[in-house]
Amino acid sequence: MASARQVNIAIIGAGGVGRCFISQLEQLVKRRPEPKLALVYISTSKKAFYTKDYATIVLNSAVSNLASSTETPLAPAALADYLTSSNSKAIVVDNTSSQDVADAYPLFLSRGISIVTPNKKAFSGPYKLWQDIFNASAESGARVFHESSVGAGLPVISTLKDFVNTGDEVTKIEGVFSGTMSFLFNSFAPTSGSGGKWSAEVKKAKELGYTEPDPRDDLNGLDVARKLTILARLAGLEVESPTSFPVQSLIPKELESVSSGDEFLEKLPQFDSEMEKVKTEAEAEGKVVRFVGSIDVGTKQVKVGLERFDRSHPIAALKGSDNIISFYTKRYGSNPLIIQGAGAGGEVTAMGVTSDLLKVLSQLS
Ligand SMILES: NC(=O)c1ccc[n+]([C@@H]2O[C@H](COP(=O)([O-])OP(=O)(O)OC[C@H]3O[C@@H](n4cnc5c(N)ncnc54)[C@H](OP(=O)(O)O)[C@@H]3O)[C@@H](O)[C@H]2O)c1
Repeated sequence: MASARQVNIAIIGAGGVGRCFISQLEQLVKRRPEPKLALVYISTSKKAFYTKDYATIVLNSAVSNLASSTETPLAPAALADYLTSSNSKAIVVDNTSSQDVADAYPLFLSRGISIVTPNKKAFSGPYKLWQDIFNASAESGARVFHESSVGAGLPVISTLKDFVNTGDEVTKIEGVFSGTMSFLFNSFAPTSGSGGKWSAEVKKAKELGYTEPDPRDDLNGLDVARKLTILARLAGLEVESPTSFPVQSLIPKELESVSSGDEFLEKLPQFDSEMEKVKTEAEAEGKVVRFVGSIDVGTKQVKVGLERFDRSHPIAALKGSDNIISFYTKRYGSNPLIIQGAGAGGEVTAMGVTSDLLKVLSQLS
């Protein structure tokens, strides 16, 4: 039986972010011996590694032990039973993008288990799930933090919460929320020079690993819509779902149903003239085109899509695959508070998760 001075940690998901999180946890445990942070469970979608008596899993061999394990993952209710049968507090770290895991947050929270996660699904799904999560947290006192669900490790969610909690009035949030879209438009329509053809830029982005295996998963705008849903809700808007406001897809209608990402890339050059027109129309006004999300809090308008910006605008001048998020508030007046930097990558995303873990630890009584 584990001690009450120990905090048990269960990690679900050991991919790019999960592995970086494990190595950050290893450093944290060395720097912060009290309370003892004990990894007691780790799983992927098919395997799990844990012991019945909550023996601490050695962090630097957790991934290899998981790989050679023959145990299957516990269902959420069984994992909650396992964690609550110890007399230590417990934290679930969800490093998946699974909707099933996200759907289990109300259960974990109602059993007093805190959650930290970069997974967007719980906070951008149906509004009912959002309410269930925060109601369960308020009732049990278990905490839930998800900084890396928007802008990876950039302090976007914590900054927005600070505005709201200190009584500032957020009037508008605007930005580039996708590293893929940032990279694509910074090279397709740069502020100096002419940029490449749209299809060539998409192909290049895929080759460099900036897109999902099927680039349509980036070009449909849904990932950005999910992030906007989260921020709009935190700003006080009851957004029903990421499909309940206008989201512009950059997938040509004719290519929506082609069978593979490769076939999509092969046929995309046939539609280059459409994006070229968008670019030249912006240029005729001395502007560049960017794929942005915006929330007008006063009018309750949320939208995602192409917008034109002056070349000197901070959104136009973004570099590489960086994200940029501008907060317009009553206190900040006409000069927004701007957060900018890498919005993807295992280490920076895991940093947001680790800092959320520290927040939970500071609030556990
Ligand atoms: N990578 C980034 O730059 C970044 C930035 C911001 C936010 N995020 C978010 O961070 C999360 C993790 O991203 P990632 O890049 O690390 O993804 P990834 O490399 O695909 O890893 C996902 C991990 O989750 C596991 N998993 C999936 N479904 C599961 C389930 N139902 N139960 C248990 N484990 C499950 C996978 O196991 P299997 O291998 O068995 O499927 C894998 O170990 C996602 O929500 C993502 O949106 C990532």
